[in-house]
Amino acid sequence: MRILLFGCDGQLGGELQSSLASLGEVIAVNKEDLDLTKVDIIPTFIDKVHPEFIVNAAAYTNVDQAEIELDVAYTVNAITPGVMAESARRSGSLFIHYSTDYVFDGQKGKPYTEGDSPNPINAYGHSKLAGEQAVQAVGGSFLILRTSCLYGLMGSSFPCKVLAWAREQKVMRIVEDQVGSPTWCRVLAECTAALLSREYRSRSGWPAERSGLYHVAGKGSASRFEWAKRILELDPHPEEQLVEEIQPARTEEFPTPAKRPENSALDCSRFEDTFDLLLPDWDSSLAIAMAEGS
Ligand SMILES: NC(=O)c1ccc[n+]([C@@H]2O[C@H](COP(=O)([O-])OP(=O)(O)OC[C@H]3O[C@@H](n4cnc5c(N)ncnc54)[C@H](OP(=O)(O)O)[C@@H]3O)[C@@H](O)[C@H]2O)c1
Repeated sequence: MRILLFGCDGQLGGELQSSLASLGEVIAVNKEDLDLTKVDIIPTFIDKVHPEFIVNAAAYTNVDQAEIELDVAYTVNAITPGVMAESARRSGSLFIHYSTDYVFDGQKGKPYTEGDSPNPINAYGHSKLAGEQAVQAVGGSFLILRTSCLYGLMGSSFPCKVLAWAREQKVMRIVEDQVGSPTWCRVLAECTAALLSREYRSRSGWPAERSGLYHVAGKGSASRFEWAKRILELDPHPEEQLVEEIQPARTEEFPTPAKRPENSALDCSRFEDTFDLLLPDWDSSLAIAMAEGS
């Protein structure tokens, strides 16, 4: 199996590199290898590699900066996925792309299904929605996996920030009016690997009726406040914490250039039913991630 992986230096890309390695040859590509704003050279690059699967974990993910760097965000998140999907369709490869709960406005009041109409409220959400639409317009064999509150335990993920704040502040204030479905990037990477392995074993090609958009996230939902409280409870080194109290706050207290949806939790039953795969709930995945520290 020959897998071309874009975005291998990102939090999901890093996990994918490990999860996909057991399936075959992974050609892992980062920004230095190919700057995805150079859209014109992407098809030639892909043709040269001649992959059976293309997995795109690359994205412009700085939600606030996207309000300013609209053009770059749009190129990477909207145009590039369409170009990759076109290359995949031409060569008969399966294309896997990732999207976000931020395509929704967060006003539904309960978890979103794939049938709900997107209505992004920030530039990042608009660019990611345009990417979904570009991939769907190309067609072929593709999967768009929409996820939510993706985290690893490295870099500047939310759990890393909470652990750092807890070592600096006695009172932590965390927003309770932003709700999502926290998703450990290893879970998403392993779901991707499970799908690829199944498809490869069947050798009958990806069934056209399974191409499409699926929600894949930690099961259930949590506000940032609830999520942060669990992170502190699961901290493997609580003796290092300075924090004495964690208080719920409102989003207005922390103004940001981009608006965030209030409740963009995802209902993943379509994914579970279609592929007969059970997703772990967000809390149990967090416990494993924190214990492993990755
Ligand atoms: N993080 C979340 O909370 C979240 C939530 C829902 C959905 N998602 C989606 O999940 C997917 C994976 O997200 P993630 O959190 O793993 O993102 P990430 O850690 O920010 O990784 C994205 C990768 O894409 C690369 N990239 C950005 N611009 C590029 C360009 N012009 N050329 C080549 N590579 C470029 C980045 O490289 P540099 O770092 O060098 O720029 C980075 O390695 C994305 O589709 C994202 O939209 C994320």
